[in-house]
Amino acid sequence: MAVARGGGPALEARGIRKDYGGLVAVAGVSLAVSAGEILGIAGPNGAGKTTLFDVITGHTKATGGEVLLAGRTITDAPVHTRTRLGLARTFQQPTVARSLTVEENMVLAVAFGRPGRPARHRRQAAAEYLDLIGMAGQARASSDLLGVFDRKRLMLGTALATGASVILLDEPFGGLSPAEIDQTIGLIARVRDRGIAVVCIEHVMRALTSIADRVLVMHHGSVFFEGTPGQMLADEQVIEVYLGSRHRKAPGG
Ligand SMILES: Nc1ncnc2c1ncn2[C@@H]1O[C@H](COP(=O)(O)OP(=O)(O)OP(=O)(O)O)[C@@H](O)[C@H]1O
Ligand SMILES: [Mg+2]
Repeated sequence: MAVARGGGPALEARGIRKDYGGLVAVAGVSLAVSAGEILGIAGPNGAGKTTLFDVITGHTKATGGEVLLAGRTITDAPVHTRTRLGLARTFQQPTVARSLTVEENMVLAVAFGRPGRPARHRRQAAAEYLDLIGMAGQARASSDLLGVFDRKRLMLGTALATGASVILLDEPFGGLSPAEIDQTIGLIARVRDRGIAVVCIEHVMRALTSIADRVLVMHHGSVFFEGTPGQMLADEQVIEVYLGSRHRKAPGG
């Protein structure tokens, strides 16, 4: 497995804590992911998964803990600095610049991403990422008119177009049809194959278990299970706290 320069993980979080007043949203979570690896994060609603991403990406300030990107401490760096160092994310609600075309969204992401890519190459770089996400044919389309799947693909594309070496995906499969889920599984596998480190929060277990190398399950702000997807599906505590309730049939169903 490829690793970041210096041999350590591409991304490491140590003892992350986030308090909102009296509420402990994240209660001391550690994780590490290497280049070319997919780490899955599962767990019930309100477990603290998105808040963990918010701290790692700098969208909210940690109450405690440390974040390292390729061994370099970024705990207090602003969001745009983290982006330029190779850290990108997507959001639970697909967000794209709706007043721009699909291609313009991508060019903008290239411009705001890692430095060292000359302006004259931006359109070319944008075109390559559009191809990767399967939207080359929609380059001129208005982003305002896109459906959920295309907005999600475009958001992933813009995250990649920053030149990210580590990408955090917050529920990339939510709201998609089975066929769209399959396409997204293929897309994330291609991202992984480019040597990018991927951390993926997901409730769609079929998708998470098919792409993740390892999985963390969070509950009440803490990690209470860590292992392979196969081990997770067989774990009695995970079934009781999380999987059981998700798979339980409605009364009379
Ligand atoms: N900005 C905020 N201010 C106050 N409380 C917050 C804030 N953001 C999140 N929380 C609380 O922190 C806890 C964790 O929320 P979070 O969104 O991280 O959960 P999650 O695991 O991503 O859930 P879901 O699966 O529903 O997306 C919840 O109790 C939530 O209400
Ligand atoms: Mg969330």
